[in-house]
Amino acid sequence: MSILRICKYGEKILEKKTRKVDFAKLKSELPSLLADMFETMDAVKGQGLAANQVGLDLRLSVIKIRKENDEDLRIIVINPEIVESSGSLHKEEGCLSFPGLFAKVKRFSKVKVRAYNEKGLPIEINAEGLFARALQHEIDHLDGMLFINRLPFTTRLRLKPVLFRLKKQWKKIDESKLKPVTGNQ
Ligand code: CO
Repeated sequence: MSILRICKYGEKILEKKTRKVDFAKLKSELPSLLADMFETMDAVKGQGLAANQVGLDLRLSVIKIRKENDEDLRIIVINPEIVESSGSLHKEEGCLSFPGLFAKVKRFSKVKVRAYNEKGLPIEINAEGLFARALQHEIDHLDGMLFINRLPFTTRLRLKPVLFRLKKQWKKIDESKLKPVTGNQ
């Protein structure tokens, strides 16, 4: 397994719609790719990571939901689509491609997602709260949509100097040199 470099805001691949996964073509590489994506996400304590965030033009994401007093929930969504949505919730969100930046984003409070799992079997997920938010954030990534583009225009204007400052720092960050975070440290 290895930790992959995460693309930062400004890199073209983040704003391009990803290509659907062809299971027949990807089959042999998929297990190690997913393991690397989980390891990368864990190393930076993320909650979600889309393939295009690690430079791959593939419609797949991994998500981790922390559970109190229980094991984390780890979800893989391949070729996901939102088929139903309802409610709305304004909550603070961050993104591994924007380290250090957080902003309140309006999302649906509930979503139904159809996708495929790592075995290529169709799955249906009914999610709410944090899980629903993570799914929407990840599916947006796969559509080339970044969370800052979901913010009101005035907020985006206000964030411009912050983004400019952060961008300089991001150039120096390279996750591939990090050690993975393991166990209960
Ligand atoms: Co993100």
